[in-house]
Amino acid sequence: MRQHVNPLSINFNQIEKIPSLSEMFGNSKLNLHLDIGCAAGEFLIDLALVNTSWNYLGIEIREKLVKNAKLKVLKREIKNLYFVFGNANNILNDEQSKFIIKNLKSISFNFPDPWFKKRHYKRRVVQPEFINFLSNSLRKGTLIYIKTDVKDLFDYMDCTISSNVCFETIDKKDFNYSKSFNPNKFKTNREKYVIVNQLDIFERIYIKI
Ligand SMILES: C[S@@+](CC[C@H](N)C(=O)[O-])C[C@H]1O[C@@H](n2cnc3c(N)ncnc32)[C@H](O)[C@@H]1O
Repeated sequence: MRQHVNPLSINFNQIEKIPSLSEMFGNSKLNLHLDIGCAAGEFLIDLALVNTSWNYLGIEIREKLVKNAKLKVLKREIKNLYFVFGNANNILNDEQSKFIIKNLKSISFNFPDPWFKKRHYKRRVVQPEFINFLSNSLRKGTLIYIKTDVKDLFDYMDCTISSNVCFETIDKKDFNYSKSFNPNKFKTNREKYVIVNQLDIFERIYIKI
């Protein structure tokens, strides 16, 4: 399977139909968390099975991974988890996704693709226009979590989000994880790899003010 796809390819201009919250989830009233670039969805499956008072939505650009993840959800009859295939930037910017943005309690960007070459920076999922769009659309109090093992990418994402006046950094020591989307501090696959290989992890949490 291809490790990287170019999110700017026209293949991703067409967006799949997004169902309503009540079609996606057993109980559409639960807190909603969105994980962007959720890969095969194992992290969200772990979360959804344990935290039944949250709904989880994953967006992933590699179609095969999303197909497999959807099959796992069906097989395990998980009612608080849904996966969407496509480029998260296009999907969330689309008119039909407005209701998702309005209902979010939090968003995570876990180990996004770094796209090291400068001419590829525009392929990174965190873009100033996207953060600007989120700042205009998210409800006050919505949290954004970023995590990466690439310092340069962290600095870039941190600078992009922090320079938007609608987001404030939350000090990690003041943060109550037990009330978050991930009270058990489950790890994504990339995070497990990073820990095993004793690499650094750079992370930050922001709140929409
Ligand atoms: C390095 S992997 C990290 C996967 C997972 N979050 C983790 O921590 O293990 C980045 C993931 O983001 C996906 N991705 C990259 N750009 C995307 C975009 N614009 N929209 C949705 N998914 C994207 C990639 O296909 C890949 O699965």
